[in-house]
Amino acid sequence: MLIVNNLTKKFGNFTVLEEINLELINGVYGLLAPNGAGKTTLIKLLSTLIFPTKGEILYDGENIIKLDDCYRDILGYLPQDFGYYKNYTAEEFLIYLSALKGIEGSKTKERVRELLKLVALEDVSKKKLKKFSGGMIQRVGIAQALLNDPKILILDEPTAGLDPKERVRFRNLLSELSRNRIVIVSTHIVSDIEFIANEVIMIKDHKILHKDSIKNICKTIDGKVYETEIEFDNAREFRNKHIALSEKQEDGKMKIRFVSNDECNDTWVKVSPNLEDLFLYEYSESLEGKK
Ligand SMILES: Nc1ncnc2c1ncn2[C@@H]1O[C@H](COP(=O)(O)OP(=O)(O)O)[C@@H](O)[C@H]1O
Ligand SMILES: [Mg+2]
Repeated sequence: MLIVNNLTKKFGNFTVLEEINLELINGVYGLLAPNGAGKTTLIKLLSTLIFPTKGEILYDGENIIKLDDCYRDILGYLPQDFGYYKNYTAEEFLIYLSALKGIEGSKTKERVRELLKLVALEDVSKKKLKKFSGGMIQRVGIAQALLNDPKILILDEPTAGLDPKERVRFRNLLSELSRNRIVIVSTHIVSDIEFIANEVIMIKDHKILHKDSIKNICKTIDGKVYETEIEFDNAREFRNKHIALSEKQEDGKMKIRFVSNDECNDTWVKVSPNLEDLFLYEYSESLEGKK
C-alpha cells in the first residue's frame, strides 16, 4: 500500500501541491486534471525524482526515500517526455534499459520478448525506433516500465499522441496489467480513464478535489445537469447564467447540456451526470483560461 501524508511541494515560493493525503491499494487510479494542475509533480514525487517540501510518502509503512533502490526495484515509470535512442531497435533498446536497471542478465531476452508481445510490437522488434509511430514509441515506453514486473506502475500521460484505435488497445492493456499492482495513469483527457480507472484522483487549486469511484464523484453534481433546446439568439445569455457543458445544433435549434443550481424549468430535462460533465464543471474557469 502506498500512503501519501500531508505532502506539500513548492518550487521556490510557488506552491504546486499543498497538504496532499492519499491511500492507494491495488487497481487503476486515474490522475485527472487539466494541464498545469500538478500531475507530473505528484508523479515525480511518487517516483522519488523530486523530494517533498513537507510531508512523506510511505510504501508498506516505509518512507520511499529511505527505501531508495529497494523502492525503485518495485517501481515502473513512464515519464511524460519519454526519451529513447532512435538508432536502436525496440529489442536492443529494452535490453539496454534492462542492463541500466540492473535486471538480471540471463532472463533478459526472454522478458523483453514477452513484453514486446504484450504491447503488440513483436513483429517490429528488430526495427529501428526511428521508424516507429508515436503510438508505437509509447508502447515501447510502457514495455520499459514493465521490465522489472513492478508492484507500482506509474504512467504520465501515456496516451498523448495515440490515435483512437491505439487508445482502445492501450485501455485493454492497462486493465490486464492492473491485477496485483498499483497502476497510476495521469491524463487531462476524461475518456482515457473513464472506463478503466477503479478510482479517479482529481487535483484542483493545489489540493485533492476528489479521490473516489467515478460513480461517487459524479454524484456530487447529481440533479444539477440538464439538457434543453434554446434559440441561437439566447445562447450567450444562457451561457452567462449557467455552465454550458456541450452544445450541438439540431433542426435549426441549439441543444445545450449544462449545469445549474436553479430550480428545474419546464423545458429542461434532467440527465444523469458523467465524468466529462463533472470535469468541465469543476475546471470550467481554468479551461477557459480565466484563472
Ligand atoms: N521544476 C519546476 N520549477 C518551477 N515550477 C515548476 C517546476 N515543475 C513544474 N512547475 C510548475 O508547477 C505547475 C504544475 O506543473 P505539472 O506538475 O507539470 O502539471 P501537469 O503535469 O498537471 O500539467 C505548473 O505551473 C508548472 O509550471
Ligand atoms: Mg504533466
